[in-house]
Amino acid sequence: MARKKIALIGAGNIGGTMAQLCALKGLGDVVLYDVIDGLPQGKALDLLQSAPIENFDIKITGTTKYEDIAGTDVCIVTAGIARKPGMSRDDLVGTNAKIMRQVAEGIKTYAPNAFVIVVTNPLDAMVTLTKRVTAFPKNRVVGQSGILDSSRYRTFTAQELNVSVASVSALVLGGHGDDMVPVRSSCLVCGVPIEKLIPSRRLDEIEARVRNAGGEIVALLKTGSAFYSPASAAIRMVEAYFGDKKEILPCAAYLEGEYGINGYYFGVPVLIGAGGVEKVVEIELSPQEKKAMEQSFAHVKELVQAMDKLLAGN
Ligand code: APR
Repeated sequence: MARKKIALIGAGNIGGTMAQLCALKGLGDVVLYDVIDGLPQGKALDLLQSAPIENFDIKITGTTKYEDIAGTDVCIVTAGIARKPGMSRDDLVGTNAKIMRQVAEGIKTYAPNAFVIVVTNPLDAMVTLTKRVTAFPKNRVVGQSGILDSSRYRTFTAQELNVSVASVSALVLGGHGDDMVPVRSSCLVCGVPIEKLIPSRRLDEIEARVRNAGGEIVALLKTGSAFYSPASAAIRMVEAYFGDKKEILPCAAYLEGEYGINGYYFGVPVLIGAGGVEKVVEIELSPQEKKAMEQSFAHVKELVQAMDKLLAGN
């Protein structure tokens, strides 16, 4: 069977980390694409030279030419700028929307059959733009957001209780912004509702930290944003797709009536298998969670409108 091909559009911190994960997990041949000549080629060469040590045989190449992504099964987009201290994800919209428009054109032309995972922020707007420009069906364009946010919720909860992260399940839904929605009613520790284990006021603090987890890292790094965990989250989606796992993962998916939303991308649980986003899974939410989802959605709508205004002027 031919090896799968994965194109990583953007060879920065997340792109480079994803390339290494693809190699270590043997997911398929990797093409790293970037606009900075030398960067993708250099990272590809460096990674390739770890192959005998790590014992992998996949090919890793770096390029500045879109032709080289031809025939890719999956494209993961991290092209764009990352946050600096004091910035929200939304502050990136002007710069990244222009970049994303070019990137989506490149994917449409050279990788018309790819499953596309968008990571660039502000995520909900960037994945919307990618779907519009590529005109790919909704099952083939998805945004990475909730896997990372849920992973952060699980991490902090596990730390609090001093239990393995494997014993904690959690969901964070909604937009990938400051008003994302940690779904307390679905956070379980070995099947036990989290509210029975951690006092409500402490949970408020943990959830506030989850919402600001990306910002906390930006403030520490000062020159960029989180990259190990976003890379892992996106690669998890690739594994679900290639493995036809039918795994239910929180992602930004295009909604057509689900959760009362029509024509927008929003963070919800989806089933990922060989058909891409095969299904949006609707779960029961508490009245407070529903309200939080509405607020988060209002914000996503504003963000998409702001992007449209900016792009109309260009
Ligand atoms: N096409 C391809 N790559 C581009 C383009 C473009 N038009 N414009 C910029 N890039 C590249 C940059 O050259 C850089 O190498 O995108 C890369 C981004 O890498 P980093 O700056 O290291 O950012 P990273 O941490 O990888 O985050 C990328 O993902 O999570 C989001 O908020 C984050 O929007 C940011 C994105």
